[in-house]
Amino acid sequence: MKRRLFVTTALPYANGSFHIGHIMEYIQADIWVRFQRMRGHEVHFVCADDAHGAPIMLKAQSEGITPETLVGRIAAERPRYLNGFHISFDNWHSTHSPENIELSQDVYRKLKAADLISRKTIEQFFDPVKGMFLPDRYIKGECPKCSAKDQYGDSCEVCGAVYAPTELHNPYSTLSGATPEMRQSEHFFFRLSDSRCVEYLRQWTQDGKLQPEVANKAREWLDGEQGLGDWDISRDEPYFGIPIPDEPGKYFYVWLDAPVGYLASLKNHFAKGQALAQTAQSYDEFIADPQVEQYHFIGKDIIYFHTLFWPAMLNFSGRKAPDNVFVHGFITVSGEKMSKSRGTGISPIRYLEIGMNPEWMRYYIAAKLNARVEDVDFNPDDFVARVNSDLVGKYVNIASRAASFLARFFEGQLADVRQLPAWSGFETDKHSEEIARCWENREFGRALRVAMEYADRINQHFDAEKPWELAKDPGQRERLQQVCSACIAGFHALTIWLKPVLPALAAQAETFLGCAALCWDDLSNPPASIGRYEHLMTRVDPKMLDALFDIPAAAGSETKAVGTDSTKSKKKSAAATEKPADAAAQSSTISIDDFAKVDLRVARIVAAEAVEGSDKLLRLTLDCGEAQTRNVFAGIKAAYAPAALVGRLTVMVANLAPRKMKFGLSEGMVLASSFDDPSLGEGIFLLSPDQGAAPGMKVK
Ligand code: MSP
Ligand code: ZN
Repeated sequence: MKRRLFVTTALPYANGSFHIGHIMEYIQADIWVRFQRMRGHEVHFVCADDAHGAPIMLKAQSEGITPETLVGRIAAERPRYLNGFHISFDNWHSTHSPENIELSQDVYRKLKAADLISRKTIEQFFDPVKGMFLPDRYIKGECPKCSAKDQYGDSCEVCGAVYAPTELHNPYSTLSGATPEMRQSEHFFFRLSDSRCVEYLRQWTQDGKLQPEVANKAREWLDGEQGLGDWDISRDEPYFGIPIPDEPGKYFYVWLDAPVGYLASLKNHFAKGQALAQTAQSYDEFIADPQVEQYHFIGKDIIYFHTLFWPAMLNFSGRKAPDNVFVHGFITVSGEKMSKSRGTGISPIRYLEIGMNPEWMRYYIAAKLNARVEDVDFNPDDFVARVNSDLVGKYVNIASRAASFLARFFEGQLADVRQLPAWSGFETDKHSEEIARCWENREFGRALRVAMEYADRINQHFDAEKPWELAKDPGQRERLQQVCSACIAGFHALTIWLKPVLPALAAQAETFLGCAALCWDDLSNPPASIGRYEHLMTRVDPKMLDALFDIPAAAGSETKAVGTDSTKSKKKSAAATEKPADAAAQSSTISIDDFAKVDLRVARIVAAEAVEGSDKLLRLTLDCGEAQTRNVFAGIKAAYAPAALVGRLTVMVANLAPRKMKFGLSEGMVLASSFDDPSLGEGIFLLSPDQGAAPGMKVK
């Protein structure tokens, strides 16, 4: 039976480039989707940028551009990554789109009509300088338990206490430094605590379709002490989001309209006419069709949204809920966690730029994935070993070994292998069924292990028959052709099985095998002849991994002042550039006179110490050739031990207006370099003048 599939990956936030975690998710989903397509099923595989929310609004502000411009810039980079790693989305859209506005508002109206929306006035911190309510992540203060300074609004990193932002002592806004005020505002809630919702979700999450660990999590949430709370779905202006109908100044919280973006992208895909190749249905018919299966690939950090909010939103707005949600773990690099926002040491774009083969990465990730919610570790040595021994040493090797004899003695003509005892010994059909089951059930590592066992059998056959010996004896020609043909038939089978992972390599192999685009059923049509063998894949040179992790310090890095911690200095530059957005602002030039206004001086660090209560700042005492030393706070604590700095020369901005900070007066800034996009490389590097420079010298 032909299945009809609607498949998505999570919609990435549009405030940053893809990191390797995103790529891993896309590779997983793409392999599954390509497998389904090869089976002849109808697949609509879509994604979109998750454009809304406070972080995107604030980031755009800090760059002096509109959120639309920011989102547009990020969207423009997406194809390089997606094409680069052969990710075959049928459509890429945005949550900031007419389709999404219409669909999100419709979902809300239906929930309201079902009496599942309530209003409540809540108290929340308000930043009087920024003129906005503060999301918790932008509030810091002293821990109510242990009094540690600079703790976030939800929990203390020092003593581990968990609390509400309102419990912080001496709270401040990390956006402006201002003391937040308590203000009231009316919010809208999705009444998940309603017994209809609770019952529905208990059923939806516990009917056996979810991965066991996901179902358990959902059960804990549903049956926990507090049960399901109502979900706050509104935010006050200013907010970059979708307006709530008939409620001026109120917007949907980004997580309300984000998953609706799945539908918006699908609808856009249908509107473009692209779906017509597969179905004559309209979007509305398709999405309501009980035959259509809907699946979302997501990471373990967003289970809550996808197993509780999302199915409830769909069901109670009169729609079909997803058939399943496929949850994966996180990728770590050499055992190290990466932060969701900062990425890891592996930059996907650098991977492509230094000429690493994207299919190596696809293969390696696939080899490590299974159907459980387990983290996946990228280990450089393991990567080299797997790719070289499996892909090149086992799979590709079969074709190159067998092809030479077939070309030399038989003009590329193959014997019919189906009658040969050796061929039945390979048990190709049995392997094929098992591998298909593994792809279907997302046991990717197992699929590849089974395929590689099969490749081992083929190679063993080749070794045992010693074609290089047979070739010496003209009386053994038939045998020689049979042995090599059986090997090529095995290679053909392997190509079919690996094609979901290695689409580009499969295309090359199809040319070599002289066949049309392979689908799963082609297993029963082994090739009759082969073309010229061209090298299919090179080995990984371990030096490439050095290049992948070793980011050249100069290229693309920029120097900036780090007089305060980074959030604050960002805020400062935001204040300076807050003006009507214009695209040119990004690349605007300044005159030499503008530059001359900055008084840069060589300074010697005569003392350096950690600042109590700050995880970012060091207090530096600088000799800049004046009668008195200066006190400067620098956000470089993560990169330098204070003792290592004493005696060093660096460069400072000497005519910056002094700035009163919580810890004292800062009388300048020191210069250091880092990437804006930490996926390109992490760390902060202080500038030093060349030998011979002395404190007080002007830098110009
Ligand atoms: N915008 C939300 C999702 C909205 S879906 C309606 C979001 N975006 S995200 O950019 O932070 O993450 C996108 C996807 O990448 C999520 O599925 C997330 O779990 C996944 N990953 C983020 N970091 C990851 C790793 N380190 N490893 C693997 N996947 C990771 O959340
Ligand atoms: Zn504490």
